Amino acid sequence: MSKGTFYITTPIYYPSSNLHIGHAYTTVAADAIARFKKMTGYKTRFLTGSDEHGQKIERAAKAGGKTPQEFVDEVVAGIKHLWGKLEVDYDDFIRTTEERHKSVVAAVFQRLYDQGDIYKASYEGWYCTPCEAFWAESRLEDGNCPDCGRPVELLQEESYFFRMSKYAQRLLQHIEEHPEFIQPTARRNEMVSFIKSGLEDLCVSRTTFNWGIPVPFNSKHVVYVWVDALTNYISALGYGTEDDSLFRKYWPADVHLMGKDIVRFHSIIWPMLLMALGLELPRQVVGHGWILLESGKMSKSRGNVVDPLTLVDKYGVDSIRYYLLREMPFGSDGSYSEDALVERINKDLANDLGNLVSRSIAMAEKYFKGQLQSPAAPEVPDQELIDLAEQTSAIVEELMDRSDISGALAAIWRLIGRANKYVDETAPWALAKDPAKNERLATVMYNLAESLRFITVMVSPFMPNLPDKVWSQLGLAGRPELHTWSSLSWGRLPAGTVVKRGPALFPRIDTAGKK
Ligand code: MSP
Repeated sequence: MSKGTFYITTPIYYPSSNLHIGHAYTTVAADAIARFKKMTGYKTRFLTGSDEHGQKIERAAKAGGKTPQEFVDEVVAGIKHLWGKLEVDYDDFIRTTEERHKSVVAAVFQRLYDQGDIYKASYEGWYCTPCEAFWAESRLEDGNCPDCGRPVELLQEESYFFRMSKYAQRLLQHIEEHPEFIQPTARRNEMVSFIKSGLEDLCVSRTTFNWGIPVPFNSKHVVYVWVDALTNYISALGYGTEDDSLFRKYWPADVHLMGKDIVRFHSIIWPMLLMALGLELPRQVVGHGWILLESGKMSKSRGNVVDPLTLVDKYGVDSIRYYLLREMPFGSDGSYSEDALVERINKDLANDLGNLVSRSIAMAEKYFKGQLQSPAAPEVPDQELIDLAEQTSAIVEELMDRSDISGALAAIWRLIGRANKYVDETAPWALAKDPAKNERLATVMYNLAESLRFITVMVSPFMPNLPDKVWSQLGLAGRPELHTWSSLSWGRLPAGTVVKRGPALFPRIDTAGKK
């Protein structure tokens, strides 16, 4: 039963160097939302990709002694490898150097020119190459880029301009009428004041370098890299081509997910381009916070980037995904440190979840040879556990609909905590000493196993490798109908199921030898 479609995108990454955990966070977060939506009955499409044109890439290739195409091919292969290691299950990966993308960008540019939304004039102003952004002098801070603080370059070029000013009022009205459009609220407020402070027409072509999509009616110019890049969200769906069935099915996007640094491009330039094309606007632009290091912002020039591949090899993909998704509070910045990562693994994964699984299964094996019995009528702690399990699935749905991933994980961990407390309250080891309490003991074992089933279903969008390991311990490997979100009503776990202990899910990481 499908609830409709759901289209989610990540930013397309610059393949100017290898990606770090900040980029991994955005992509893993989008992957978790996409997996969650699929599980909850939506026909989901998840797009990611690479943003391969522009001056920044051209310069990086030159510095590496390669042609831009050779250079991006190598970096993009590394990006795809990274997503594979992180279990990122995208439906499409778009590269802006692909023909299917370039032809759509050229057609969009042509159309905007033909209808008078793009015109030629001469540009004199400032450009930040790391951000690939134009700045009016009045917006500079101490003569530097107001976004990243780095020096800007003076440009004097004949250029094409997009009539942003024409759409400003309509965009403001849209933002006002759709409070959910830019999330979280702090980002929306920033955007509103940015627009209100006055928008100049946007310079949308460059002539001083070649690595870009040529302007179709003037090959001296290449299309401004952000116009090129933003168009990926529709070119990947075949917009304007002979087969535009994906576009008709999935547009408008439900969520454009990104870091707060590029919300401005997605909630001002992109909607205005869409308005000019007569297309619907995305339903939501979500700008998450940054992952910071104790030493501040991660950057190649500071030499402090954290490589996600090394972390995955060292700690395992589920642990890294859990850490990133849990540690980043919704909407604000989060910090990364390896100590905090190890602490999360030892506490939340090894102690809370891993122990719950291992001790529940060990007790069922010890007291009933692993075979689960039908539960008797619930007593007070049983009912509390059952109620919380059922409420948690609803709470997770609500939080995920707001892209509050860390909140959703916290809710699941409250259930894990409740189940651990249930073991202490019911004290199965004491019940086992009295044969008259055998039925009560069987009920406790059943309730623990059913809680584990709920928990495993709910964590699966976030930790895709874990479920199979738990299913085999729970004796449910061959029962996919009990792994679905829609199976989350209490009591579906059949009596007679035989559980069997397996290897520890999350071995504790020894921190004793550390400084
Ligand atoms: N190519 C553009 C996006 C075009 S989308 C049409 C771009 N690429 S990027 O590779 O520089 O960065 C992409 C995204 O990576 C940022 O928006 C942000 O989501 C994420 N992050 C990069 N560093 C980050 C952190 N330190 N922390 C969290 N996210 C960060 O911008």
